[in-house]
Amino acid sequence: MIIDEIRQGLEKHVRHRIWFVSDLQQRQPLRARKCMEIAMDDFVSLNLKPEVICYLGDATEGEDLGYIQEMAQMQVEQFARVDAPVWYTIGNHDFDYFRFHRKELPGMCIPFVEYVRQFPQWHVPNEKEMARFLDLGDIAVLLLTDHANPEGSWYTTHGELHGFAEEYPYRPEDYRKLMEEVQALNKPVVTCAHYAFAGGNRAAPLFNRFLPLPANVRIHFYGHAHVGDAFWAGKDANRKISNVDGQPIVQVDVASLESGRGSAVRSVVFEWYDTDEVGVFFRNHSLGVWDDVLMIRDGDCQFVPLAE
Ligand SMILES: [Fe+2]
Repeated sequence: MIIDEIRQGLEKHVRHRIWFVSDLQQRQPLRARKCMEIAMDDFVSLNLKPEVICYLGDATEGEDLGYIQEMAQMQVEQFARVDAPVWYTIGNHDFDYFRFHRKELPGMCIPFVEYVRQFPQWHVPNEKEMARFLDLGDIAVLLLTDHANPEGSWYTTHGELHGFAEEYPYRPEDYRKLMEEVQALNKPVVTCAHYAFAGGNRAAPLFNRFLPLPANVRIHFYGHAHVGDAFWAGKDANRKISNVDGQPIVQVDVASLESGRGSAVRSVVFEWYDTDEVGVFFRNHSLGVWDDVLMIRDGDCQFVPLAE
């Protein structure tokens, strides 16, 4: 395949490589294991040695604690097959257990996150924080995450606030302040989240508070919208690449690691080259092939005036 040849030629230029995965999202442990093994067997066979794995949420689905713990344990075992830290962002289905059992729970509880937190390979957010920075030297990654009050009085999913809005501590100015922090890093930033910004598939309304994004945001990766799932994404079901509304910043749909709602077990490999160009490779693990590739040169969004 030509995409494989392209990849071989690029190997010597790779400065950073991030493996983006999202939405294993299964109720049944057996089905979850099957999808995870399809993805992991294929990824390990590629021998890509990512610097970091960014897991964009919805690792499980449903309210059955035994099932969730079984699926969490299985994922800890599977990701241990790759020698790279896993940075996790929380998605809407991570709240399924809390939403179903909230009356008998003393506060917020996200069993998957609490389980994986004990393993040094896994980096998970604290419930209340809406973002974490990951410094990779000459670039940084900003992970936006669903967040919640540890007491359970409010939480965010689908880009909306649920519960007691008056107790939510973040004002629109705090969202802008986070973008000022991004800008102040003074280096390129890759952003990622369970959701898209406006212009992507099934975008998060709360993320509008972040817009416009600072110019040093290079690209955004998101999950939630399983590629091929017309029920939830409608006409955009097969759209993997879009841009942030009104801005020349590309956003990429990573989902999903499952092939029940989505049309294949998928993930995305992102590479940053010594030329400051970036590459996005869409892996179809179900077929063991690269489906698509996107290359973006440095400064492709800068305005170039016409010569006099
Ligand atoms: Fe989701």
